[in-house]
Amino acid sequence: MRLRKKWWARPYMEENLLCIVEPREYKGRWKEAFNNNNEIYLELGCGRGDFVTNIAQKNPEKNYVAIDLKDEVIAIALKKITESEVENIRISPLQIAFINEVFDKDEIGRIYINFCNPWPKDRHKKRRLTHTRFLTKYKEFLKPNSQIWFKTDDDELFVESLDYFKECGFEIEFMTYDLHKSGFDKNIVTEYESKFLKLGINIKFLIAKLK
Ligand SMILES: C[S@@+](CC[C@H](N)C(=O)[O-])C[C@H]1O[C@@H](n2cnc3c(N)ncnc32)[C@H](O)[C@@H]1O
Repeated sequence: MRLRKKWWARPYMEENLLCIVEPREYKGRWKEAFNNNNEIYLELGCGRGDFVTNIAQKNPEKNYVAIDLKDEVIAIALKKITESEVENIRISPLQIAFINEVFDKDEIGRIYINFCNPWPKDRHKKRRLTHTRFLTKYKEFLKPNSQIWFKTDDDELFVESLDYFKECGFEIEFMTYDLHKSGFDKNIVTEYESKFLKLGINIKFLIAKLK
């Protein structure tokens, strides 16, 4: 996602209580960030925040942590979350490669990965958010039997991710090569998803459960 540098982004993030600028400080005590004991779900690569805002509004009994790399993107999402007045979201800037430094054992109940970069070249595949290198990190903080919900437009990433999940001890509970014709009724469309839908590209989707 290419965005022009926004000089207001960092100060805006630092003064907004919904943004956790130093997420490592919350390791093992994310419940304190929400002031309740509700289960916490995680979205990796949240982009402009449409998905997390909608899902959090629909599920007030859950808490959501949304992560993205760039301040420019975080600031846009943060504005959306703030204006929606939804209280069960916290958002943090983070390189996902360091995600296991931020959450403790059994701290997260579900992960959403929506339209991550497919990194098609062989030498870059280790950067995929579904690669075994990343799944191994997620397992450090996912509760037993929790799920990862993964959506993509990219066929090769999807097929190879099926192997990554199985290799890391996940069971594929649900999968479809055409989400919008599958009858699955809990989908929330993301910004990238709506672009791909307009182009007539099928959305691939799976739910992987930690055994
Ligand atoms: C293709 S966009 C998808 C955005 C959104 N999930 C959607 O479906 O509309 C991918 C997002 O993931 C973020 N991202 C990619 N790699 C990341 C990483 N290693 N750490 C943190 N964020 C990352 C990007 O900044 C971008 O906002």
